[in-house]
Amino acid sequence: MVPLSPLINNIMRLRGEILCCIWLCLLQLSLGAVRHYKFDVEYMYGEPDCQEHVVMGINGQFPGPTIRAEAGDTLHVILTNKLSTEGTVIHWHGIRQYGTPWADGTASVSQCAIAPGETFHYRFKVERAGTYFYHGHYGMQRTAGLYGSLIVDLAEGKKEAFHYDGEFNLLLSDWWHKTIHQQEVGLSSIPFRWINEPQSLLINGRGQYNCSLAANLVKTTLPQCKFRGNEQCAPHIFHVHPNKTYRIRIASTTSLASLNLAIGDHKLVVVEADGNYVQPFTVDDIDIYSGETYSVLLTTNQDPKKNYWISIGVRGRKPNTPQGLTILNYKTISASVFPTSPPPITPQWNDYNRSKAFTYKVLALEGTEKPPQHYDRRILLLNTQNLVGGFTRWAINNVSLALPSTPYLGSIKFNVNAAFDTKSPPDTFSEDYDIYNPPSNNNSNIGSGVYTLQFNQVVDVILQNANVLSGKNSEIHSWHLHGHDFWVLGYGDGKFEQGDERKFNLKNPPLRNTAVIFPYGWTALRFKADNPGVWAFHCHIEPHLYMGMGVIFAEAVQNVKRIPREALACGLLRKVFINKKHG
Ligand code: C2O
Ligand code: CU
Repeated sequence: MVPLSPLINNIMRLRGEILCCIWLCLLQLSLGAVRHYKFDVEYMYGEPDCQEHVVMGINGQFPGPTIRAEAGDTLHVILTNKLSTEGTVIHWHGIRQYGTPWADGTASVSQCAIAPGETFHYRFKVERAGTYFYHGHYGMQRTAGLYGSLIVDLAEGKKEAFHYDGEFNLLLSDWWHKTIHQQEVGLSSIPFRWINEPQSLLINGRGQYNCSLAANLVKTTLPQCKFRGNEQCAPHIFHVHPNKTYRIRIASTTSLASLNLAIGDHKLVVVEADGNYVQPFTVDDIDIYSGETYSVLLTTNQDPKKNYWISIGVRGRKPNTPQGLTILNYKTISASVFPTSPPPITPQWNDYNRSKAFTYKVLALEGTEKPPQHYDRRILLLNTQNLVGGFTRWAINNVSLALPSTPYLGSIKFNVNAAFDTKSPPDTFSEDYDIYNPPSNNNSNIGSGVYTLQFNQVVDVILQNANVLSGKNSEIHSWHLHGHDFWVLGYGDGKFEQGDERKFNLKNPPLRNTAVIFPYGWTALRFKADNPGVWAFHCHIEPHLYMGMGVIFAEAVQNVKRIPREALACGLLRKVFINKKHG
């Protein structure tokens, strides 16, 4: 007879092992992997558009390395500042930072700028699949080239609702030959010196300044570009097989330009915007504003004996920058075969009806979380260009944002009231403000712009556009919110009026983190203040933010736990951290 007890013991042990295994698997699923990156930020020589200039790079690369993770993973980025004379930070645009507001990478808001030679550890979870990017968020370092792609794939075992055979990334930006220091000084000088239009548009960090790839096909005074090979500014060519579907992940990190992107002879099906799925719609081209991302599906169903242009061009401002171009290569032929037709023509820069028609098509995919039906607090934000002591600035409800030396997250959490102007900025603006004319009183104030939000409050923000400082004009702005997505409830022309909320879309408004306001128009957003922290909400046009175009939302800051000390040890908090222990 076989003794029973060892058998039972074995079974028990086996069961234990299996249970343990399942438990570990579950743990693995819920915790995700930790992905490590080491980023050294530096200035280096580069030729983004065939002219040598100083560019900001990461680990010797421009644009910075692409971060790729799976939903649920934790990213651990060890950032070392190798700039010799200035601080730096990196913001993870579109990542909500639940529980880690100190890792949001926004100088003066979520952390102290990292000093030269110092290293900072960003550690945060990427909970949701989608197309994102990262960029510098100190002064105008984004304009200097401090950016890269951040792609979050679905967690293992999950499948997208749409099919694709391959994918590629288009990271779009604009490029100036003047350094950001020249630009910053000009913007904060009397007389004011505007940065003007960019010299080039870049696709994945590559553009062509003194030549055109399509010179032979279009009317231009520029010579045809010639490449010997290995030039840094040679276009990044995308290779595809015929009759396949590709997911193109597009992100715009432009400093100024609103762009239109088209691929010659091909249709694009928009499926994702800012990390959220949208009701698919088909277009010939897309508009993309700074701070936005899209995924579009492209089916390679055109003549496989040809190559095609991928083009980007400026919209929303009178362009003075040639189109950015690269080539879609059907692998059936050589990549060096030139497209035979000219690149797609960028739609007229000021055809705003066309821009609106595109923007209004972006609606949430069924199954997307719906907005709360009511708001608890409504904030109307008037965007104006003003003067502050003779300096040209942007102001929101007459307050022009100036960032303090002590990060808000620390000063608010630890009640260091002297660190900023604690007076709350106004929730609205004068009802008789004439948005169609230059401001009648064009003086505004510098302020801290901190709106304090209660935990879980539903907040509506109505962004109201207006006429600029002089002349008859109103500019496009694209507003980005940190720490959240918001529902875009609606857009309208003219001044927002009480009755306009009847037109709000509460059925399928898109969830986004960036939204455009059109000239002389308004845009209505709704979000839930469910993420304790201090979050910037600002125009993503970098010179505009630099000139004060932003506000701060301080959200249930007392609920924020475990802020690493090195995030906040500067300004008035340096002393606090030296003398006391804080958790
Ligand atoms: Cu992508 Cu506060 O910005
Ligand atoms: Cu702006």
